[in-house]
Amino acid sequence: MNLWQDFLINDDRLIHKWMHYFPIYEKHLTPWRNRTINFLEIGVSKGGSLQMWRRFFGPMATIVGIDINPDCKSVEEEGIHVRIGDQGDPAFLQQLIDEFGPFDIVLDDGSHRMDHIRQTFEFMYPKIAKNGIYLVEDLHTAYWEEYGGGVEAPESFVNLSKKFVDDLNADHTRGVIAPSFMSKNTFSIAFYDSLIVFERGTIPIKKAPKSGQDVNRPGLATRLKNALR
Ligand SMILES: C[S@@+](CC[C@H](N)C(=O)[O-])C[C@H]1O[C@@H](n2cnc3c(N)ncnc32)[C@H](O)[C@@H]1O
Repeated sequence: MNLWQDFLINDDRLIHKWMHYFPIYEKHLTPWRNRTINFLEIGVSKGGSLQMWRRFFGPMATIVGIDINPDCKSVEEEGIHVRIGDQGDPAFLQQLIDEFGPFDIVLDDGSHRMDHIRQTFEFMYPKIAKNGIYLVEDLHTAYWEEYGGGVEAPESFVNLSKKFVDDLNADHTRGVIAPSFMSKNTFSIAFYDSLIVFERGTIPIKKAPKSGQDVNRPGLATRLKNALR
């Protein structure tokens, strides 16, 4: 069963997600199913999405939800942990890492305020697993003043993430952009309607070797050696 089907037949706790997120989740999160992983969702609300993630990732996953509302603690059940705190509080976020270990996947569906999204991202992104995934959803709020956003607002997480695209390409800017943590530890940044997905990873060798027919073609062993040199 895919995640969309799971959502449609859900008659347990309430889940609130935009429809078009489901293929995005499937695309980025399917490789993590049935593995020993730590998954964190920021924003618990009625707890239905935590149950959905538990079903999706399977029995080996540790599912953690955080929320500022103490009532959310009541949705804890086997395999689902809920901690109460503010997503913008680094001490609280550090406590989570101390308790559960680094997270493989973080999904920010919390306050949707630009200051919170940024604070949480700046603290958590460097601390997730080296091949981990960080998703920020409901970023239509990045265009809304009441959430600290706006089309041209520098604080908008969408605008900030556009700059991260330049960081990703820092090595090609002829020294204009100094490689940052983002440059060195990010494999991809995917933009969707209201959702951005960061995939951590490193590219240890950046080269553009050639292959195929060539009159002055060296032997296979030399070509392999040259490609890796
Ligand atoms: C959109 S709801 C989460 C929905 C849930 N993930 C789902 O898919 O059904 C947002 C939640 O974020 C919580 N929240 C708001 N501000 C927060 C903050 N500063 N830190 C942590 N959680 C916060 C709210 O209490 C609310 O339960």
